[in-house]
Amino acid sequence: MNILVTGGAGYIASHTCVALQEAGHNVIIADNLCNSKVESIDGIKKITNKEITFYEIDVTDEEAVDIIFSNHDIDGVIHFAGLKAIDESVRNPLEYYYNNIVSTMVLTKACQKYGVNRFIFSSSATVYGDNKVPFEETMILLPTTNPYGETKAMSERILTDIANANPAFSVSILRYFNPVGAHESGLIGETPSGIPNNLMPYVTQVAKGRLEKLCMYGNDYPTVDGTGIRDYIHVVDLAEGHVAALENLTEGVHVYNLGTGKGTSVLELVKAFEEANGIKIPYEVVERRPGDIALCYADASKAKQELGWTAKRDLIAMCRDAWRFEKNHKE
Ligand code: NAD
Ligand code: UD1
Repeated sequence: MNILVTGGAGYIASHTCVALQEAGHNVIIADNLCNSKVESIDGIKKITNKEITFYEIDVTDEEAVDIIFSNHDIDGVIHFAGLKAIDESVRNPLEYYYNNIVSTMVLTKACQKYGVNRFIFSSSATVYGDNKVPFEETMILLPTTNPYGETKAMSERILTDIANANPAFSVSILRYFNPVGAHESGLIGETPSGIPNNLMPYVTQVAKGRLEKLCMYGNDYPTVDGTGIRDYIHVVDLAEGHVAALENLTEGVHVYNLGTGKGTSVLELVKAFEEANGIKIPYEVVERRPGDIALCYADASKAKQELGWTAKRDLIAMCRDAWRFEKNHKE
């Protein structure tokens, strides 16, 4: 299939482009490089040794999107492009609502015009809010604490309404848990700008000596060791989940958790990183981070049953691959 991958130069999408090409699909990338570099596309090409068509465009731009749909016989769209920094979304909600919602509308409009009936959307476990774990796809979504989370919940609703009105339109909404790690080649990975907000990139930068120590946000949560529990998933497993979702897509709207189903505490992740890489990670326990929840992990059984997909790579592989990329990566 010819697959339009929006945000294709980004962290999760670049790994998905590799998985798509390895599964025999052609990839067309649309990215405005607002949070990525063209080097990641070179990385994808080096890994797969295949060609990629790249459009440097903003996917909120209707005309630019139209040109791609008219130039290619597109079979499906995987819509990753989005802004994702929680704190920035609180400071600048309009930018987040505009970018993340308008992009979804522009792309679905083009799909309708050109008769493209496969659409896969990057959602987030954040839409579950503080529900009871494990999170199941059928749960009533709870309000998130930030505009970013709301853009995901709203995009899900928009896609659901469009699919309900157009029975041929097939949508797969993928709710990611906590993607970490990198391709084992070390050629593509996560490159956050500035000081990372997320745990694994912060840990790898402490390991590199760029940051002095990890600030652990609270150790008084009702969890095994008091630190927050998350469902970390290797980004290559996540990428393979997209290929499974694409190849098993049927009419209607389908929602899948893409996680491992296993919770890991902050302390456990730090220990696993130390064990995998033989590097000590100094840390200090500080106040809880506002908006954090204690527990977040998936019930991952639906994706297994319906897509035949499960995450295979363990925490040690996640830590090893994250460090391999960070170690070799030059800013
Ligand atoms: P990323 O920032 O690495 O990738 C997003 C890509 O989209 C970037 O290359 C950016 O340049 C591009 N982009 C943004 N707005 C655009 C626009 N208007 N037009 C064209 N390109 C645009 O982020 P990521 O971590 O790979 O996330 C990919 C998707 O998955 C996002 O939608 C994100 O919200 C979602 N998601 C990420 C996580 C996570 O932990 N990383 C968790 C849940 C959901
Ligand atoms: C964050 C976002 C969430 C988003 C997800 C994936 C917030 C409040 N939530 O979630 O909406 O979907 O990223 O992008 O930002 N931690 C530390 N020290 C750090 C960083 C994190 O102790 O320097 C802890 C956190 O308290 C948490 C765990 O590590 O318990 C994971 O944090 P993080 O990687 O930021 O992911 P989420 O909190 O799940």
